[in-house]
Amino acid sequence: MTPDGLPPVGLHPVGLRCAHLDNPLGIAPDRVRFGWLCSGDALQQAYQIQVSQQNVVGWPCDVAPFWDSGRTESGESADVPYAGPALASGGRYEWRVRTWDTAEAASAWSAPASLEVELRPADWEASWIGLGPLREHFDPPSQPGRPDAVANALRPAPYLRRSFTLAGPVAAARLHVTALGLYEARLNGHRIGDAALAPGWTDYHQRVLYQSYDVTALLRDGENVLGAILGDGWYCGFVGFDAKRAGAHYGAAPELLAQLDITLQDGSVQRIVSDDQWTGRSAAIRHADLLMGERQELSLALPGWDGADAGDADARDAGAEEAGWRPVRCRPLDGRVLAADPGVPVRVTEEISPAAVSRSADGVYVIDFGQNLTGWVRIRASGPAGTSIRIRHAEVLDGDGGLYTDNLRTARQADEYVLAGGPAVLEPHFTVHGFRYAEVTGFPGEPGSGDIVARVVHSDIPLAGRFTSSEPWLDRLLANIDWGQRGNFISVPTDCPQRDERLGWLGDAQIFARTACYNRDVAAFFAKWLDDVAEAQLPSGAFPDIAPRLNFPGAGAPAWGDAGVIVPWTLWKMYGDRGVLERHFGAMSGWMDFVERGNPDLLRSRELGHSYNDWLAPGRDATPRELLATAYWAYDAALMAEIAGAIGRPDDAEGYRELRAKIGSAFADAFVGSDGTIASGSQTAYALGLHLDLIPDELRAAAAGHLVEAVRAANWHLTTGFVGVGYLLPALSAAGHADVAYRVLGQRTFPSWRYMIDQGATTIWERWDGWSPERGFQSAWMNSFNHYSLGSVGEWLYRFVLGIDQEPGTAGFGSLVLRPHPGGSLDRAAGSYQSVRGVIGAGWEREGGRFTYRVEVPPNVRATVHVPSAAAAEVRDASGRPPVRTSLFPGLLGVSEAVYEIGPGHHEFSGPAPQAIG
Ligand code: BGC
Repeated sequence: MTPDGLPPVGLHPVGLRCAHLDNPLGIAPDRVRFGWLCSGDALQQAYQIQVSQQNVVGWPCDVAPFWDSGRTESGESADVPYAGPALASGGRYEWRVRTWDTAEAASAWSAPASLEVELRPADWEASWIGLGPLREHFDPPSQPGRPDAVANALRPAPYLRRSFTLAGPVAAARLHVTALGLYEARLNGHRIGDAALAPGWTDYHQRVLYQSYDVTALLRDGENVLGAILGDGWYCGFVGFDAKRAGAHYGAAPELLAQLDITLQDGSVQRIVSDDQWTGRSAAIRHADLLMGERQELSLALPGWDGADAGDADARDAGAEEAGWRPVRCRPLDGRVLAADPGVPVRVTEEISPAAVSRSADGVYVIDFGQNLTGWVRIRASGPAGTSIRIRHAEVLDGDGGLYTDNLRTARQADEYVLAGGPAVLEPHFTVHGFRYAEVTGFPGEPGSGDIVARVVHSDIPLAGRFTSSEPWLDRLLANIDWGQRGNFISVPTDCPQRDERLGWLGDAQIFARTACYNRDVAAFFAKWLDDVAEAQLPSGAFPDIAPRLNFPGAGAPAWGDAGVIVPWTLWKMYGDRGVLERHFGAMSGWMDFVERGNPDLLRSRELGHSYNDWLAPGRDATPRELLATAYWAYDAALMAEIAGAIGRPDDAEGYRELRAKIGSAFADAFVGSDGTIASGSQTAYALGLHLDLIPDELRAAAAGHLVEAVRAANWHLTTGFVGVGYLLPALSAAGHADVAYRVLGQRTFPSWRYMIDQGATTIWERWDGWSPERGFQSAWMNSFNHYSLGSVGEWLYRFVLGIDQEPGTAGFGSLVLRPHPGGSLDRAAGSYQSVRGVIGAGWEREGGRFTYRVEVPPNVRATVHVPSAAAAEVRDASGRPPVRTSLFPGLLGVSEAVYEIGPGHHEFSGPAPQAIG
């Protein structure tokens, strides 16, 4: 046995990742941080990393390591920064790691992983190219009071191409490509990569992300053709709720930037770039807009346009002005930053077949996909030339079985295809819709199986969490939360995917961030968005309400701006990612200074921006604005102290601890009564006070009692909006009232999560009363059926119901606290979380008066397990061992808990069920 009492099984590093990505083909040098998983049942004592420089042809390479960390005494495996010599622009590196366990058993070297470094500005030789605004084609429906229609006209998508001949046999080739707008890149008739809506959304005035692809296998001897189709996207399409496009936000027409670096077998590099040697024209895509939809006229398609044989002869003219391939407009690179995309691509991740199809007398089909989702519909159809097929999309149906589209506001969400004659597979390139229902008009004949499918599209964030229980509706709730996340994580975390909004609201993101992490691996996704947030920060230090900011003036709003601190902290907490803290420490302290400057008396009552408060709380806006604002400021200060500590800034940490203490006293003086009441008595006020630790210790129990009273006064329902909803159940559970938390959770009448499910919801609604039998739909102006904020209860399901949490003050799941809070009508709940250390499993059941808790602890991780029981001293693990200690269980008053300290592996504990639930 080892000194830790563990069998000397040894470890082996697997699953190597760099900046939370697998073998990135483009990464900024300052983002290079290594992580790995350990296989085996032991704890890591030390690691060694070796990085070797490669040419793009790759491994093996017999040169000395470019960087060797040497043996480093550390259990760290999630976030190890590269600390070697400067990495070369465009350079390829391979890295490997080995570990020693606490018994000094050394692992073998891991299989190598690779990374390629982003191009520095001097290595870009490409120019921006485009066709300028193409002939106006289509006016979206006129909107009363909307700006002028000509500027808003939708226009055809430019197709761009250039042919070239290889200078010799190819060793390897990389295409670095981006667009002001969206691009779909093609090489010799093949689509490059499988990303949709690339390059994603950033503040294009400041920074454009590019993607890099390995295109070696697509090149061929002789003539090659590199091509791209461009879409308007966020750059020059409709974005947000002010229904403007064409230069209103960023620019007037899309442009491409591409650089194909071909390493030949003789070691020389042939470079093909976007420049004045390209030609362009319009073709089948007559317009494509994120909000409005896409139109294709197949008679204008250019077969083989992206292959070596396409000449003008193949092109049927789309109109005199657009006829033929013509020279592109070309301009040099400007001051915008070009950065390798640190995030994850948007992709088609799933296909869904119709759950039900109905056909009206006039041949219009309404398809129910059974799931509210984000993506588009793909249709297989065959019909005579000129057949016109139109697809409209909606989340819900109206009372007559038709699409309800009022809540889309000005977003048209419609795709149109005109057939050229014969069979065709139809799907859009540059749009995305939020829908469960599609109305198909003009389908020739009757659709057969597989002719109409929904394609689910979102940032491809891998699944991390699983949850099942004895209550199917609760499983549905978690599925709804996850569907909401999928549908709204599209390059940035948006509020909703259907109406003319789809913006990166900071408040929504911060309240949902921890749930998002438990559901899916969002480390790289959020890392990308935090750059958007930092870029959108005002010179005053105020974080914006939305990022990218567009021209929206809102900034500094409590619980919205605070996301600039909360989200980086959450990434550190969940992924152990200190890099994100270091990167944004300046922005975060700028925000803290901004709030403090405006509020020297330590009550945050000024500089509140748009102050959305507890947004959409049912009933009156009960929580005082300065209470919510001050609570968040105190929270920020507490997180900043942890953040500063985590990145080795002890003086800053001390400063923020002091600030936190002072705000805490000011909060207590201003809002907490001597009997533990909190001003206004709203549930949100209590939830904030308890969850953010703003109530003097001696008054906590009393305050929790008042919260229970507030819940009872609402007939055991919640009264929280976007902000309070995330803290209500955790506050109740942590204060010993898990029974009340379960009671609120289980409510079937408005306002509650289960009410939505009973109405057929398959995502989380924006409003508790999005639809009711008495009133029908809520106001069409703000009534999304796919808004994730109220789904922040997901965190409670993982952390409290399953009990998957970590030791306070630690990050990255190296030291677990596994403490389930059973209750309500649940007989069992089980699930897992794929952490950066590996899979953490937890499940419990109560049966025959006994409570059993089974857990799985990943390699290189320790855990403290707390098993609630009516008689904690009688709890035993599978080998009959008693607990190391017993204490009072915090989740239910009067229940005790048995405590075990455990290491990696599967463990089971069982004892008399806690009476309050047994
Ligand atoms: C959005 C929200 C957002 C809010 C600000 C709404 O229009 O849909 O999700 O946070 O505005 O209060």
